[in-house]
Amino acid sequence: MPTKERALCMIPGPVEMSAAVLAANSTPATAHTDPVFVEAFGQVIEGLRTVVGTKDGQPFVIAGSGTLGWDQAAANLIEEGEHVLVLSNGYFGEGLADCMETYGAQVTRLRAAPGHRQALAEVAQALRAKAYKAITVSQVDTSTGVLADVEGVCEVVRDHSPATLVVVDGVCATAAERLCFDAWGVDVVITASQKALGSPPGISVVVASQRALQTVEARKTRVPAYYANWTRWLPIMQAYEARAPKYFATPCVQAIFALNASLRDILDDGMEAVFAAHERTAAKVRAAVDSWGLKTVAAEPALCSNAMTAVWLPESIQAADLLPKLKARGVVAAGGILAGHAHRYFRLGHMGVSATRDNGFVDATLAAAAAALEECGHPVAQSGRSSPPPRL
Ligand SMILES: Cc1ncc(COP(=O)(O)O)c(C=O)c1O
Repeated sequence: MPTKERALCMIPGPVEMSAAVLAANSTPATAHTDPVFVEAFGQVIEGLRTVVGTKDGQPFVIAGSGTLGWDQAAANLIEEGEHVLVLSNGYFGEGLADCMETYGAQVTRLRAAPGHRQALAEVAQALRAKAYKAITVSQVDTSTGVLADVEGVCEVVRDHSPATLVVVDGVCATAAERLCFDAWGVDVVITASQKALGSPPGISVVVASQRALQTVEARKTRVPAYYANWTRWLPIMQAYEARAPKYFATPCVQAIFALNASLRDILDDGMEAVFAAHERTAAKVRAAVDSWGLKTVAAEPALCSNAMTAVWLPESIQAADLLPKLKARGVVAAGGILAGHAHRYFRLGHMGVSATRDNGFVDATLAAAAAALEECGHPVAQSGRSSPPPRL
């Protein structure tokens, strides 16, 4: 847990972690064949299915970061020259488009204005215009905090282009935002350990549908990647789930112990309770932003993510003015990263234990932000200022 010497980490990932997760992350050297690790790995694979709402989706739990999930989706699903429709709501949508092109995709970008998302009618029109192998959607684009309508996009795909694979970037969403992988018809969800999954950075988590796996089997050309090739990892995931060790490349043992500790808490709470806690916390953050007289980057409440909030600053204040004043009050927040707007806003993460546990982290963050804004010369209503200190 945080100490007096360490500021709270309230960026949109990595996020604060529970004591159980920290303890699991600092266990002694353990062989990847050790029965204790084999059991933990098996539990992680099973637990992830519940988090994303699938019965037969195949989790891939591989050492790396969220970006490795982009490489996995592109390398395994896309063959040279195939078309991919990218719904881009900011920095991470653009990155995913770039990754798809790296593996030979012909990418069409459907861009939304900052703070907005694509209208479903626009997505339907694009899908009717061309045969796309895959469509990608960032459930939360971390550069703006805009929440995509993944369920709506899946419906449009089903109605207008059912052969198109639906690839969801859930790096800043999974375990904070509801995802019904089977019921909605998602083919791939990409996430990572360090956000709402509540554990340290270091694990790329991907869940692929059986249809996505069949797509790999039906490829005419080799998967143009070695480490990211699902065909190499599938027997490993199947073996660990059957509680037997198997080697392709060394798993990140401690990171998997830590992810398992976090998943135990998430699954004990239950997904509905976890989503509700994120919803309540996000509503509290938005109310505070409102009380400061500021606006979220997401243009309306229905577009605001429950995992993080991006806040436009007054004209007179830049992110670089505000962030050190927040840090001086014991809170690390993030600046903007949206091209052309980066200095005009800041971002707060409110995922994982900051949302699900009564630790006062979010209250302390909001109080620090209000005080920092005042120090920058922006008056803040009294209600936005007072808050109990966090329970450290
Ligand atoms: C939406 C989204 N996608 C992808 C990534 C890339 O993940 P990573 O930094 O773990 O490689 C991030 C990182 O913040 C993200 O927020």
